[in-house]
Amino acid sequence: MAEEARQSAVELFRRSFGAEPEFVVRSPGRVNLIGDHTDYNDGFVLPMAIDRSVWLAGRMTTERRIRVESAGFDVIELDLDRIERSGGGWGEYVAGVAWSLAEAGDALCGWDGAVASDVPVGAGLSSSAALELAVARATTVCSGSPWDPVAIAQVAQRAENEWVGMACGIMDQLVVAAAAPHAALLIDCRSLETRPVPIPTEVAVVVVDSATRRSLVGSAYNQRRKSCEQAAALLGVPALRDIEDVGQIAALLPERLARRARHVVTENRRVLAFEAALRDGDVEQAGQLLLASHRSLRDDFEVSVPEIDDLVATLMEIRGVHGARMTGAGFGGCLVALVDAASVGSVIDELRDRVHPDVEVYVTRPAAGTSFEPL
Ligand code: GLA
Repeated sequence: MAEEARQSAVELFRRSFGAEPEFVVRSPGRVNLIGDHTDYNDGFVLPMAIDRSVWLAGRMTTERRIRVESAGFDVIELDLDRIERSGGGWGEYVAGVAWSLAEAGDALCGWDGAVASDVPVGAGLSSSAALELAVARATTVCSGSPWDPVAIAQVAQRAENEWVGMACGIMDQLVVAAAAPHAALLIDCRSLETRPVPIPTEVAVVVVDSATRRSLVGSAYNQRRKSCEQAAALLGVPALRDIEDVGQIAALLPERLARRARHVVTENRRVLAFEAALRDGDVEQAGQLLLASHRSLRDDFEVSVPEIDDLVATLMEIRGVHGARMTGAGFGGCLVALVDAASVGSVIDELRDRVHPDVEVYVTRPAAGTSFEPL
């Protein structure tokens, strides 16, 4: 699968530019194991980069222009001396990253590239962060700038916040840039410190696509973020990360804001407990924490959808499933489950029997962050 997408990028480059590419960038998608809507509250998250990626085959040019081809999408042409909005679409991620790199002082050099991907789009697996980091890597390689994963993740986040208009936190960009191979990544979203967390070999991370899609920009995501900031202000703390006493929340906030805040405060605790459970090999406990996270996102934060709630309930009836939850921003997309490694095949068969034979399921493995390969 990975080889196919890589090969498609290389072949598209040859067809489009009539030349051999000089480098290939791989930039993975991600699945968040636990810790949703905590990143922009300075909290904890535990995502992992997955073995599905955006691949970018490219070559440096002497022109002040970035040109990117992608099978099935428009060609992007970007004048590096006049970076402008192109009216939406995937080109905004390319333009936004170039703009943000320039703002951060990068000299910006031109390149031609061809992109192919096996990260499903709009499924909550961060295809856009993967693309952003691929573009950032190609651009910094060509301009000779250093690759500091934390700094680059901040550049990509700024592109998303200020160019695309999605008020996302740092999780997606940071795990895509900084993931270590063979492990999930605990991120403290305040200090931006990270530590790898190995996944016990007796479990597999299984992603199930609910096939429900909803655009995030301009949606409830930005509004949830505002509610959290409002709750923190009313509680007199810099961020909801700073709340230790859950009891204080209900006493001081109106009902709905209290539920939003309670999700964030309890979710931060679940992330750290989940990390400990994985390190202890306590997969039962890890599974219970996933379920508790799902309930909190469904009932308190209200970002799940009935299709995902039903899939979680169905999965929990199947032998070999330790826990499951919605993952990512919510409002549709994927869910993630921790499944007994030896039962993965039978769990998938039973899920398809019960739900639909075509349910998309990805058995994922933790992958390394964005990488560069000269050819
Ligand atoms: C999206 C955002 C992230 C994070 C998640 C929810 O993926 O890009 O920053 O807030 O939603 O956890």
